[in-house]
Amino acid sequence: MQTLNLLNGEWVAAESGETFTVTNPATDEPLADVPRCGALETTRAIASAQRAYTPWRKEPAATRERLLRQLAELMLRDREKLAQLMTREQGKPLAEARGEIDYAAGFIDWAAGEAPRLYGEMIPASSADKRLLVLRQPVGVTAAITPWNFPAAMITRKLGPALAAGCTMIIKPARQTPLTALAIGALTLEAGFPPGVVNLLTGDSTTITKALFDNPLVRKVSFTGSTEIGQLLIRQSAQHVTRLSLELGGHAPFIVFDDADLEAAITGAITTKYRNMGQTCICANRFFIHHSIHDTFVEMLQQAVSTLKVGPGWEEGVRIGPLIDDTAVIKVKDHIQDALNKGGKLCCGGSLVQPRDGLARRFFAPTIIQNMNREMLLFNEETFGPVAPIQAFRTEEEAVALANASPYGLAAYFYTRDASRLMRVAEALDYGIIGANDGAPSTPQAPFGGIKASGYGREGGRYVMHEYTDIKYVSWKL
Ligand code: SIN
Repeated sequence: MQTLNLLNGEWVAAESGETFTVTNPATDEPLADVPRCGALETTRAIASAQRAYTPWRKEPAATRERLLRQLAELMLRDREKLAQLMTREQGKPLAEARGEIDYAAGFIDWAAGEAPRLYGEMIPASSADKRLLVLRQPVGVTAAITPWNFPAAMITRKLGPALAAGCTMIIKPARQTPLTALAIGALTLEAGFPPGVVNLLTGDSTTITKALFDNPLVRKVSFTGSTEIGQLLIRQSAQHVTRLSLELGGHAPFIVFDDADLEAAITGAITTKYRNMGQTCICANRFFIHHSIHDTFVEMLQQAVSTLKVGPGWEEGVRIGPLIDDTAVIKVKDHIQDALNKGGKLCCGGSLVQPRDGLARRFFAPTIIQNMNREMLLFNEETFGPVAPIQAFRTEEEAVALANASPYGLAAYFYTRDASRLMRVAEALDYGIIGANDGAPSTPQAPFGGIKASGYGREGGRYVMHEYTDIKYVSWKL
């Protein structure tokens, strides 16, 4: 199958005619050829987004709201089709893909509600002959560079608020998962967004990104991906002082105190650790368990993990699909081997499994490793795989110190029944998102984002609207 890109309301090929092939990570079967666009097409997309910008920002907020609601409805109408496509190109189990479409449509729907609520302000002046006004205006042409782990939601989390604020957008989806993105692009046309308001380009990330930052018309870029690439974008953004929001790597701690509800902690651990095969920025990556319940927790987690069915995402009951590619498999293997070399004890998993013949060798058994220590890669780096490394602790101070011993600050989880401790620990953890007795904190109405090496800016909730609006102060002398 040959697909095209969305530019100025039309479906186009790369000028060069070049394409690249998207494959199913579970089988290596080719799914589609998509355009390999570059600087030329990016410049055209920016021009188209710029042309569309002025009329779009002048549309009444109610119009922007209506179109966004329409888009959310269309996504839900096509929920099954989009979820099937996502599972084929990304690998995640179908139930998770369906959940992601709901989550993704939720961002559009939430943003629709924000469009008519972009209030300004009047500040009391110091003299009777002045009025001080604060206006909130769209930043202009924006771009979204999105990852493969959430092919729909990481787009809509940026697109919804950008459009609600009156911005236009160029989307550059991940090389591995452009098909879900293109399907959402088609729905923006069906919803009735004017040409150029949404543009979608597939191709070489480095070339497209450079062309975005080289052009002063692009006023804002939102990126979800690795800290390493985020740092590169910060440098590139200096050229035209392009606004950025960055949702970068995470390395979430998961603390279980001795007073915790253990059943709830196990449910939360399974949700956050093994969702999307561990390929989530907010996945728990380091488990710190109070020494008095450590052995019981390990036993219960092992029991829960043994029920997770591994296989291709489209098969009934599958909870663990393939990792995205061979590089991901190598990283997971390296982290496990490193841990075993440094005193780690393998409780279960630890290697690839072959659910049946004809599948790619990317299915990794859910893994638990005891005796994690600070020397291990597992302690220091995001694994992005289904590995739960566990370390015992003795005091609350020690648990918080271990949890905070990371350059990352995206999400952290802890379980306790003590209300005072709950507040104390939530305040002490250096993270942007806290799951307190909750393994699934993400939701469209809440702020999502990190601190330290996990980036800056917030997506979700009303907070994201600040990312797509400039504040203008008008001092009015009567
Ligand atoms: C991510 O991995 O960046 C997104 C996870 C989420 O939205 O829950």
